[in-house]
Amino acid sequence: MPIQWFPGHMASARKKAADAMAAIDVVIEVTDARLPEASSNPMIGELRRFRNRPCLKLLNKADLADPAATQAWMDFYNRQPGVKAVAISAKSPSDAARVPALCRQLAPHRDDGTKPLRMMIMGIPNVGKSTLMNALLKRKVAKVGDEPAVTKHQQTLDLGPGMTLTDTPGMMWPKIDYDSDGYMLAASHAIGRNAVIDEEVATFLGGILLERYPALLAARYRVDPVQLDGPALLEAVGRRRGCLVKGGGLDLEKAALILLQDYRDGVLGRISLETPESRARMIAVADAA
Ligand code: G4P
Repeated sequence: MPIQWFPGHMASARKKAADAMAAIDVVIEVTDARLPEASSNPMIGELRRFRNRPCLKLLNKADLADPAATQAWMDFYNRQPGVKAVAISAKSPSDAARVPALCRQLAPHRDDGTKPLRMMIMGIPNVGKSTLMNALLKRKVAKVGDEPAVTKHQQTLDLGPGMTLTDTPGMMWPKIDYDSDGYMLAASHAIGRNAVIDEEVATFLGGILLERYPALLAARYRVDPVQLDGPALLEAVGRRRGCLVKGGGLDLEKAALILLQDYRDGVLGRISLETPESRARMIAVADAA
C-alpha cells in the first residue's frame, strides 16, 4: 500500500518548519501512543536535531494504548538525548496541565523571568494536537488544519504569563518507507480517509490483534483466534455481526469497518500496534528483503 503525500510541497514545508523551529524553545511532538514511531514524522526529529531544540515527546491517547508497550516506548525515547517522553491523554485536563512545567524543565535557560518560554506543538494529523491545544488554553481554538505548509497556518497564543504556544498543522512526510507504517496509520485514522481500502487495513490490523491480543478478540467477537488468520478473522467478525450481502455472501467491507471502528474507539481494550522490539524486528525484515 504505497502512500505518498504532498511530494511537490515538502521542500518548502521543510524550510518553513525549520524557520518556525528557530523561533521557539521547546518542540512538543505529539504522537499516538499506540504507534509512537509510525506516527512520528521523521522530519520533525531531523529538524529538531538540526536546530538543537529539546523535545517533549507526548505519547498521546495513552488511555487507548497497552500500558506495558507505552512504558517500553517511554524507556526507549527517554534514552535519546534532548528528549523527554511522557504518556498522556490530552482529553484529561490534569494530564494536559503537566505539559508547561515539563517544557520548562527542558528549557531552564528561559526560566529567568525575562524571556517567555516559547513552545510549539507539532505532529502528524489526528494524533491530538488540537485537543491538547484546547486543553492547555482551556478553550476551543480553531483548528489550524492538516497541511504541509507550516507557517501559513500556524498560530501563536499566550499561555499564561511568560509562555507562548504555537500550533502547527498536521504534517505528513512525502513517502512512508514501511508498508506496515501506512497500515498502522490508516487503522488509527491518521491517514487514508477514503484513500485506502478498509478491508486491506482491517486484515493487517487483524493480523496484529491475533498475534498480540487474541484474548481481546475472543472476548469481543466470540471467535477462536487459534483457528484464524487476518482474512479469516474478518469473515468470522462478518458472520458474528450478520454482515451479509444480497444472496447470502459476506459483506467484508462492513466487517472491516466494524473491526476498525472497535479498535479506534478502544472498545476492544487497550491495544498498541507496535513496541520497540516489534519495530526493530519489522525494520530488520524489511531492510533484508
Ligand atoms: P489533531 O489536531 O492532531 O488532528 O487531532 P485532534 O485533536 O483533532 O484529535 C483527533 C481525534 O483524537 C479526536 O477524535 C480527538 O477527540 C481524539 N483524541 C485526542 N486526544 C485523545 C486522547 O488522549 N484520548 C482519546 N481516546 N482520544 C483522543 P474524533 O473522533 O475525531 O473527534 P471527537 O468526536 O472524539 O472529538
